[in-house]
Amino acid sequence: MTYENILVETHGKVGVIRLNRPHALNALSAGLIEDLNKALEAFEADKGVGAIVLTGSEKAFAAGADIKEMQDKTFADVFIEDFISKWENVAKTRKPVIAAVAGFALGGGCELAMMCDFILAADTAKFGQPEIKLGVIPGAGGTQRLTRFVGKSKAMEMVLTGRMMDAAEAERAGLVSRVVPAAQLFEEALKVAATIAALSAAAVYAAKESVNRSYETTLTEGIRFERRIFHSLFATEDQKEGMKAFVEKRAAAFRNR
Ligand code: CAA
Repeated sequence: MTYENILVETHGKVGVIRLNRPHALNALSAGLIEDLNKALEAFEADKGVGAIVLTGSEKAFAAGADIKEMQDKTFADVFIEDFISKWENVAKTRKPVIAAVAGFALGGGCELAMMCDFILAADTAKFGQPEIKLGVIPGAGGTQRLTRFVGKSKAMEMVLTGRMMDAAEAERAGLVSRVVPAAQLFEEALKVAATIAALSAAAVYAAKESVNRSYETTLTEGIRFERRIFHSLFATEDQKEGMKAFVEKRAAAFRNR
């Protein structure tokens, strides 16, 4: 399938989605979100894909919602279409999604990256929630997810002033998992995604769901949830294979079922 606003490819068991509206620094138009959702759905359904990399260009992961497209919308327009709700599909994807961010990740671009399971950043990455400068506030989870990632003080400063943080600050603050030289970002993201895609799919899905649960529940409930999921993985062939392989000092050959 070909898309107008994204490029899609597979590298072994890794699905890659590259945002591709260079003339608008990958601003997230309705058409781009539609393409992104279709590509995510296709990768979710593809048994040959075990992890997904979401990336942009050297200059921009994405510079936010498309301001030209939304500037004339009224309250009734955005309320009735439930503007932004369609963006959340990234966060609902069950396969791991890694954001590989170079250049600008601003507004909705920063929010889209935060919907992914983790962010690998190039040393050129710049993150920010500049919506306040447009007379609005973040609308794709920025006030909630950024605060959980970096804490109230830094999130509040960024959301209230719209200032950007560079990759080093983003790593210090816990927004990104790692910073790599820009020239190595894509290869590194592919490598990490391939590592995940080679593991037991049941364990990977369970791990993702359990970590995400920590954002939604109390510690006691989260630990109970984790324990039950941990127990349930003993019903999989992959648990038998993974542990047998360790004992036999060989690489595990997961069957992913
Ligand atoms: N929407 C639409 N077009 C955008 C855009 C956006 N978010 N960001 C950049 N563009 C366009 C510019 O209009 C420009 O197009 P033209 O050549 O036709 O004029 C082109 O991309 C290149 O941009 P610049 O010339 O501005 O490039 P620059 O290097 O000088 O600046 C930048 C880069 C600092 C990222 C600047 O483009 C910028 O500030 N962009 C807007 C960032 C922003 O405010 N994002 C938040 C959007 S609101 C939102 O996302 C809401 C939400 O929470 C969901």
